Amino acid sequence: MQIRTLGSTGPAVSALGLGAMGMSGAYGAADRAESIATVHAALEAGVTLIDTGDFYGMGHNESLLAEALRGRDRDSYRLSVKFGMLRGPGPVFGGHDCRPEAVRNFLAYSLTRLGTDHIDVYRPARLDPAVPVEETVGAIKEMIDAGYVRHLGLSEVDAATIRRAHAVHPVADLQIEYSLISRAVEADVLPTLRELGIGMTAYGVLGRGLISGHWSAGHTAGPGDGRATGPRFAGGNVEHNLALVEALRRVAEAKGRTVAQSAIAWVAAQGEDIVPLVGARTRERLAEALPAAELSLTADDLAEIEKAVPPGAARGDRYPAAFMSGLGVGN
Ligand SMILES: NC(=O)c1ccc[n+]([C@@H]2O[C@H](COP(=O)([O-])OP(=O)(O)OC[C@H]3O[C@@H](n4cnc5c(N)ncnc54)[C@H](OP(=O)(O)O)[C@@H]3O)[C@@H](O)[C@H]2O)c1
Repeated sequence: MQIRTLGSTGPAVSALGLGAMGMSGAYGAADRAESIATVHAALEAGVTLIDTGDFYGMGHNESLLAEALRGRDRDSYRLSVKFGMLRGPGPVFGGHDCRPEAVRNFLAYSLTRLGTDHIDVYRPARLDPAVPVEETVGAIKEMIDAGYVRHLGLSEVDAATIRRAHAVHPVADLQIEYSLISRAVEADVLPTLRELGIGMTAYGVLGRGLISGHWSAGHTAGPGDGRATGPRFAGGNVEHNLALVEALRRVAEAKGRTVAQSAIAWVAAQGEDIVPLVGARTRERLAEALPAAELSLTADDLAEIEKAVPPGAARGDRYPAAFMSGLGVGN
């Protein structure tokens, strides 16, 4: 597994990271034993970056990771944790809380659930519109100074917010959606990250499965699968989007690759400063994703892939309307 460094101040991590969100219900029921086996398989393959959020299954994801990581050398992997998103019992979103006292409170819970004395990269999942970002990241800086957190991260913020946060404390990486069908980061955000020496952990590189090659128009999202409300998965859009996937399949298979491997490798090829997160929740999906880290796509490969899925070709927003305003960039 190749190594990439998260920005000029962040940790060295594997060229692919594992996102654990799908192991705690975001995409419907997940099998706990299989989730843990997937984490173990990732670590054994050299994956050293694991991403979670305290609100993924409301603590379920952190507890699961604690179980999966128990007994491992704490220096052999890096934990990226998001906080600040409020939920209620059931599928209820209650906004965000990124006040300094909330930062400390969320962090204390995360450290306990994860069974660790520090988090490697700690980040607000979204901006709290009621709290200046300087106050939120100022509280994280205090926790860095106290040794509970190693690095500051951000998630889904725009270029101006990146600059404001970075002025308070160096930002290791921004986590943001970036894929063949979500390229809005290329306009302002990616150049800003590069100017400031900040890395990117790219999520949704498979469009939550839509551009993995395993989704079909007849596929029905099971109970609790958030993709059921995703505009790109909605009838009328999904057929158009899957036609793009079929074009990508032709390009991928001609080179002996799968659709998912091509989509992941395309993101990885956009720069050494980008680490794609893959949301595998089974060993089978992980085994397909991992070789993408070793693929080196030529300029011709990249051009063929982008001809199959041109910028802006996908139909539908990347989030339901109610969540779009909380994002750093559009589609
Ligand atoms: N910062 C943020 O706002 C934010 C938002 C969302 C996610 N994230 C992070 O990013 C991670 C990845 O995001 P994501 O899960 O939404 O996106 P993704 O990696 O684009 O999609 C993952 C889904 O694609 C399907 N899939 C099909 N083939 C696959 C393969 N070979 N390898 C992996 N998955 C495959 C799987 O669904 P099936 O199992 O149903 O096949 C899987 O759950 C999350 O786990 C989370 O840690 C961050």
